[in-house]
Amino acid sequence: MLKWGKHLSVGNAIIDSEHKNLLIMVNDLSAIIKTKDSAALLLALEQFEHWLCAHFENEETIARAVNYDFARNKLEHEKLLKEFQRMKKEAAAKNRSWSGSTAKQYSRFLGDWIVGHIMEEDMLMKTVLQTHDYSFTPTGLAQ
Ligand SMILES: [Fe+2]
Ligand SMILES: [Fe+2]
Repeated sequence: MLKWGKHLSVGNAIIDSEHKNLLIMVNDLSAIIKTKDSAALLLALEQFEHWLCAHFENEETIARAVNYDFARNKLEHEKLLKEFQRMKKEAAAKNRSWSGSTAKQYSRFLGDWIVGHIMEEDMLMKTVLQTHDYSFTPTGLAQ
């Protein structure tokens, strides 16, 4: 089970709460994977992708608002989205012949990626984010 903790805080309430939600969603995905219900899994992957994209957009909006150079972080996001779409296609192609082992790799990959990305890449924004209020909220955020 993935769990958000203070050591993952990047100094902004919106980004932190989105990271918390993403970790919960990866846990939910892992639970769905165990049921081997491929229709439910595909739906969950779609929903996850939606929130992941919204998070990436919001993170970029906040980074720009505090004048943080987001280029490298954005590149990592794009790489993950490509990989995620490849996984989703593979999951759809497998349909009901879902074995579970590939799926388990997916949830582990997503969990490792998110935690690794928060700690190594998003964390680099912390010093700049901390020059603003923890509750700093620029306009134009995605819901
Ligand atoms: Fe993030
Ligand atoms: Fe990021």
